[in-house]
Amino acid sequence: MSILRIGILASGRGSNFQSIINEVESQRLKVKISLLITDNPLAFAIERAKKHGIEYLVIKPETFKSRDDFYKKIADELKKREVGLVVLAGFMRIVGKPLLMEFPNKIMNIHPALLPSFPGLHGQKQALEYGVKISGCTVHFVDEGMDTGPIIIQAAVSVFEDDTEESLSERILRYEHKIYPEAIRLFSEGRIEIQGRKVKIKGAINPEIFLINPSIE
Ligand code: GAR
Repeated sequence: MSILRIGILASGRGSNFQSIINEVESQRLKVKISLLITDNPLAFAIERAKKHGIEYLVIKPETFKSRDDFYKKIADELKKREVGLVVLAGFMRIVGKPLLMEFPNKIMNIHPALLPSFPGLHGQKQALEYGVKISGCTVHFVDEGMDTGPIIIQAAVSVFEDDTEESLSERILRYEHKIYPEAIRLFSEGRIEIQGRKVKIKGAINPEIFLINPSIE
């Protein structure tokens, strides 16, 4: 079987992108990162791509006539490189139809809350303000809604009374960096089956991705 080629879409810091790079470079994740696309010329994700010899493109929405044209361009660049999975890693936009139609059930996203709670921007802040005692992160397939697609993996963390948005975000991020590469691994091994809203995983998920003890954070 030929190796899965993935394309990353990121708008900012790119720490999730880095966690995927690390897993690929240590050969625990057997995929090829073919391309980084960013909508933000100042994204730190670009520095990570440069450092690791990954091709990158800056594609700015304001340079296109329409939102559809912007997403068509992204889809074309990904197709050109025979990408089989699109990975949104802090890509702060709702994916447009031309990209969704080109990659049905082949776009993943990571969200810093336990969906369907707290979709959209600032999931961690929303959770904190609501007063939940547990939050976490979710990897899901992308559909036309906002953070509404079928859920692949979730990890939960405690929310403490003295948490700030920063401290909760940091705790959640540690799990993001574990569950996202694992979800990509499951996909690359053909172990994910989507049945309606539900995602069935063949075989066991690596239990180590859940092994950060919240009581010592
Ligand atoms: C991550 O916490 C990710 O879950 C979140 O943005 C951050 C990006 O960090 N994504 C969303 O909120 C999407 N709605 P990163 O650039 O360091 O990976």
